[in-house]
Amino acid sequence: MTNKNLIDLEAMSVEQIDKLVRKARKIMQSPADYRHACDGKILATLFYEPSTRTQMSFQTAMLKLGGRTIGFDNPMNSSVAKGENLKDTISVISGYADVIAIRHPVEGTARASSLYSEVPLINCGDGGHLHPTQTLTDIVTLSCEKGRLDHLKIGVCGDLLNGRTVHSLIKTLAKYEGNSFVLISTPELSVPLYIIDILENNGCSYEISHSLAEAIVDLDMLYMTRIQRERFKSPEEYEAQKNVFVLDSEKLALARQDMIILHPLPRVNEITVDIDDDPRALYFKQAQYGMFGRMALILLLLQDEDFLIPYREVKVGVHRCNNPKCVTQAEPYLPPYCYEKLGMEMCDYCDKRID
Ligand code: CP
Repeated sequence: MTNKNLIDLEAMSVEQIDKLVRKARKIMQSPADYRHACDGKILATLFYEPSTRTQMSFQTAMLKLGGRTIGFDNPMNSSVAKGENLKDTISVISGYADVIAIRHPVEGTARASSLYSEVPLINCGDGGHLHPTQTLTDIVTLSCEKGRLDHLKIGVCGDLLNGRTVHSLIKTLAKYEGNSFVLISTPELSVPLYIIDILENNGCSYEISHSLAEAIVDLDMLYMTRIQRERFKSPEEYEAQKNVFVLDSEKLALARQDMIILHPLPRVNEITVDIDDDPRALYFKQAQYGMFGRMALILLLLQDEDFLIPYREVKVGVHRCNNPKCVTQAEPYLPPYCYEKLGMEMCDYCDKRID
């Protein structure tokens, strides 16, 4: 099955990802050539959760391509406040726009929305699940700054449990030959087991570390992440985790001169502000690379008939997903789609095992 929806970058082949990165680099070299590429086209940005970079870089990307934008950044100013369900909102907006970019706090919402959209739909973050266009941002940055996406030693640090950017990044870079990973977190915030499965199934070497000072010494890239306060059950649990890993000048002094520091942002205090002036700190430049990546994505989805994104085979399951964070709980009319992995039934929306 193929379509024009970007739900998970993992679904794309390495060739497709490389094509996106090449297109982004081409746009960067001569942006004027693309000034009218999307004349007359409309992007809808539906942001049910706060955002600075993803929302505005998508809007800027469409404006720079000559298109226009509609949307909301607070669902309470839309008919969602009157109880409109996701299906109805998407069915209507897909009649107004040529492409939809959606962010939602509930896992699996992008996939659920894609079932009701007549136009390409892009996942801009669904709860703690996935954030594929952040990964696009990260790999465009890596390609421009390191010159390759393979044979890299990658450290990821912080909230590896709830950080959807980390999940998408690991899944994508695991496809490239020779990449190895150092997973730096507290035991409570370690990566979900399904990410470990992906690393093992792709034959990637990985280490688990509880010390940033030890792990930093031999990395090509350090990917810092924020502890995701909004995903904790209680303030006390967040307080116990919030300042465990902080990149400061003392720790950075242990790193290689050619290591680059990325961060999806927003930063809270996991990187001290004095690091910003170090040439290895690329997180603000990374946000700008993301805009070019999103321009490339919009162009390929709208204009390249061959740019079809594969999607796994799914079936209607007997049981519904019981993950309380899954969209199937919030939108009960959704068909209980599932897929099989290693003999287990997995929810097609949130990727959790159905018990
Ligand atoms: N990196 C990222 O998703 O930032 P925003 O939440 O500001 O969009």
